Amino acid sequence: MSVPDHGIISPAIHYWGSIVVLVSSENEDGTTNIAPMSSAWWLGRSCVLGLGSGSKTTGNILRTGQCVLNLPDDSLAGVINSLARTTGTSPVSDWKRGRKYEFVPDKWSKAGLTPEAADFVRPARIRECAVQLECELVHSTPLSGDLPDLKGVLSAVEVRILRVHIFETLRMSGYPNRVDPDKWRPMVMSFQQLYGLRDGKLEESVLARIGEEEYRGLTKSGVKKTLGEDDDELVVREFDGK
Ligand SMILES: Cc1cc2nc3c(=O)[nH]c(=O)nc-3n(C[C@H](O)[C@H](O)[C@H](O)COP(=O)(O)O)c2cc1C
Repeated sequence: MSVPDHGIISPAIHYWGSIVVLVSSENEDGTTNIAPMSSAWWLGRSCVLGLGSGSKTTGNILRTGQCVLNLPDDSLAGVINSLARTTGTSPVSDWKRGRKYEFVPDKWSKAGLTPEAADFVRPARIRECAVQLECELVHSTPLSGDLPDLKGVLSAVEVRILRVHIFETLRMSGYPNRVDPDKWRPMVMSFQQLYGLRDGKLEESVLARIGEEEYRGLTKSGVKKTLGEDDDELVVREFDGK
């Protein structure tokens, strides 16, 4: 088998590909906020969410101990794009304002989505999503705890899945408790772009209007040096032939 040579690269983001989740969480006034995210991984009945600590969603989950993880299929790229660069937090943080985020108190109207009551938690489920996972908070911990200036900017939030709702069309025929993977078409975000399990982009991603280098500040501490952090300069120098 012939394989290509490797070269060193220093990406500003490590979004190698993971499924898109629409997190619903309860605001202070009892309404439900919605936020797209994709840094999520699954093991047992746990899901660990990588979230900006300052986002409305993180605050809501930590305060109420609850959320719903709604999984859109690959037909909902327009919905994700309509919610990209929005936040339920007012005023909008400097970082987000610089990347053209806007405050949207009612994300349901903005995205044309329909709330459905959940069984065990207060935030609403999103009717249009093929999968809806009612969850409770288990634990939250800051990322990059060893880097004084980055500590706590991002959080790992572990939630436990309490109840699973799926479109009946996704149920594997003859099995009460199995999803048919031939029918489930998750949406995948790779380097800010949106894909399905087919070739090509679903549509141009609104999130990707944020240049990758604008995330560089989240990957490199200004205070404490880490191994490999100079690779970005090294790679650019080599790339330019200097
Ligand atoms: C496709 C997509 C994936 C995203 N993935 C994440 C993510 O994994 N973690 C995160 O903190 N923000 C992610 N974001 C950005 C959040 O949506 C953004 O921080 C938003 O303002 C959160 O909304 P909130 O402040 O109302 O909670 C993603 C956005 C899009 C469009």
